[in-house]
Amino acid sequence: MSKWIPKVLRRRPTTVGCVVLGLIALVQLFAAHGYNYIPLEDVERALLFAVNPKIGKENKPPCVYGSVINKTKTVDSTDLPKKFNEFMPNGIVSGSYMPENCRPLISVALLVTYRNRQNQLDVFVPYMHNFLRKQNIHYKIYVIEQEDDKPWNKGKLYNIGAKYAIADKFPCLILHDVDLLPLDESNLYACLGQPRHMSASIDKFRFVLPYDTLVGGVLAISSDQYVQINGFSNRFNGWGGEDDDLAARILKHNLLIWRLPPHMSRYSMLPHKQEAINADRHKIMQENLESSARDGMDTVRYESVNVKDQRLYTLIGVKL
Ligand code: BGC
Repeated sequence: MSKWIPKVLRRRPTTVGCVVLGLIALVQLFAAHGYNYIPLEDVERALLFAVNPKIGKENKPPCVYGSVINKTKTVDSTDLPKKFNEFMPNGIVSGSYMPENCRPLISVALLVTYRNRQNQLDVFVPYMHNFLRKQNIHYKIYVIEQEDDKPWNKGKLYNIGAKYAIADKFPCLILHDVDLLPLDESNLYACLGQPRHMSASIDKFRFVLPYDTLVGGVLAISSDQYVQINGFSNRFNGWGGEDDDLAARILKHNLLIWRLPPHMSRYSMLPHKQEAINADRHKIMQENLESSARDGMDTVRYESVNVKDQRLYTLIGVKL
């Protein structure tokens, strides 16, 4: 063999294959961290300060948010609670919480779509209350449960939940997967001037953003913007695609997808088995791109909706 061929390539093909695969994995691990984000010093200016008019004006000093954004405490994903048994916090009514010592300038509705994942909900709800009560915001958790055996339709569930949260006068919607737990206390749950993809760094994806137009997982969007893009398409049954279609709607309306720095955007994903993947998702997305038919929040159809106030969340039970 020619002496000009590097030594490593003169080895057996399997060894060369392993070395090449290892190198690719390494490059991916270190290179893919980069995504465009709002620098920390500009985050406060990018916040959407909007409060639910229903909460009235209490005579308290306005809440501050710089101290939240600059927090450095993070939770190691291996230290997350596996189960909460007794969670009896004060001050939470139907999943809603108001800061005690100051007047909030931010109100958000967390919309959590759900079916058959009681173990995750039991961890998610207390974890989120503990996390959010430290943020000086007014918030309310809505769980939108699909109560039938029809194929899972996350887009429809979000559209229905958004209608209720908007009717309740929330100016900011946070669309939240039940299996994602924020790790960084600086990750303020608030909308920005543009739709904000919050879960940019997930442990399951080795804290790497898989692609720039991903908006799945956790997304904060103002109610006005949600109405403007007419929410989600109702056409995606099964797992996947509805979020990519939403990203296309966002961009089509000349809105942008903003993110905060990776050190504020880390999440841990609770384990679960993969749902049935919608094999038609790319086809439906293409059809939607080419279609002028109205399909979204204002055309969502369902059999029934049943709203129940529970202590830690408001449950919107839906039969599609
Ligand atoms: C799916 C999305 C999903 C993303 C990340 C895509 O293939 O269409 O719905 O959010 O993968 O898991």
